[in-house]
Amino acid sequence: MPLLFGTAKFNEQEHLTIGGCDVVRLTEKYGTPLFVYDVAHIRERARGFKQTFNSLGVKNKVIYASKAFCCLAMYKLLEEEELGCDVVSAGEIYTAIKGGMSPENIEFHGNNKTKEELTYAVEHGVGTIIIDNFYEIDLLSAILKETGKQQNVMFRITPGVDAETHEYILTGQVDSKFGFDVTSGQATKALEKILADKQFVLKGVHCHIGSQIFSAEGFLAAVEKMLLILDEWKQTFNYTVDILNIGGGFGVKYTEADDPLEPEAFVKAIVSAVQGQCELLTYPLPEIWIEPGRSIIAEAGTTLYTIGSQKSIPDVRHYVSVDGGMGDNIRPALYDALYDGFLANRISSEATEAVRVVGKYCESGDVLIKNIELPPMNPNDLFAMTSTGAYGYSMANNYNRNLKPAVVFVENGVDKLVIRRETYEDLIALDCE
Ligand code: LLP
Repeated sequence: MPLLFGTAKFNEQEHLTIGGCDVVRLTEKYGTPLFVYDVAHIRERARGFKQTFNSLGVKNKVIYASKAFCCLAMYKLLEEEELGCDVVSAGEIYTAIKGGMSPENIEFHGNNKTKEELTYAVEHGVGTIIIDNFYEIDLLSAILKETGKQQNVMFRITPGVDAETHEYILTGQVDSKFGFDVTSGQATKALEKILADKQFVLKGVHCHIGSQIFSAEGFLAAVEKMLLILDEWKQTFNYTVDILNIGGGFGVKYTEADDPLEPEAFVKAIVSAVQGQCELLTYPLPEIWIEPGRSIIAEAGTTLYTIGSQKSIPDVRHYVSVDGGMGDNIRPALYDALYDGFLANRISSEATEAVRVVGKYCESGDVLIKNIELPPMNPNDLFAMTSTGAYGYSMANNYNRNLKPAVVFVENGVDKLVIRRETYEDLIALDCE
């Protein structure tokens, strides 16, 4: 039985349905490759975080990490679910505001925000800027002085926690391009600088230990380290934070082998660790913020591809090609990411053969699934690759001048196009003759 998420199931025609919509009909209407997002599942995950905090009576903010997937409709949905968002570029700020996100609920991250971007953020009333380095302290301060404004800020600390994940998405360790390091004293120096500057309203500190983390341990270690340094600052500078932001990185299920905690369990573990440490140190309980991206959007997304050519090399391998690939999902090529999938238009067909699912890009590394058991497939069959909602479309590109796919939101039997498929005209829109 394939791995199904949220509202996904099969109908009498043996077609996959998501959000009550038959995916065969969706692909007839919108073409392939097609990203389909199960809106009920997004809401459920968002509420899993938000409502658990609320039920524990803890002041909180759940801030969706836009980089996992964003578009106008996504920001509208976040507003409906009372989530904030984190952004890492002026482009994301622009999209968030256009999508109806209140600027005060936007949090701006990045290790090299440009002067233009910081100015844009200040001018548009972005709620919180997370200062990442000394260069940014000076740059932002100068911008604020020029405009005569004050700005809510936090600053990012690398607490020195090694979470178990791929090294490219590991961020909490000392040797990182992000944030102020604790052990060398940079974090304390940053605190002093920021506190001394009247342009800044310092709300608290932030850390993010990495991504696709399955258990609570790394977060608990981060909480412990963060509170130790906060307590030291309380003693030395009589400074206590209003907000402790623990970042994102909560893992999801891509294949049967993945076994992450549910959002509720992550929140409960973090809250109890913060409460426990605060009691131990008699530190005033801060507001707790988290920044889930993948864990809200990954499992809600399914990519539908049309099967095209196949190549069978006797005693070697059977290749099955689909009409997308590394342009709409670069994660297998970039991180060796594993995915699951199945035939979406006749589910009862028995999986009889181990095959390699590859894309149409002109590159041998364009592999979507290295090894998967599938039924014999015909051209025009539909292949559903599951749990593709995070860092798929958002990292999509036009390699080989292929068109970026369309994105559809489905809920209660209704489908809504939220990003149209690119056209050939779009491809040359920026070209100058
Ligand atoms: N907060 C900060 C400061 C981050 O840097 C990130 C992700 C998040 C939150 C959200 O992490 P999430 O909950 O989505 O794991 N492209 C990679 C992931 C890069 C993550 C970068 N930062 C991938 O496809 O796995």
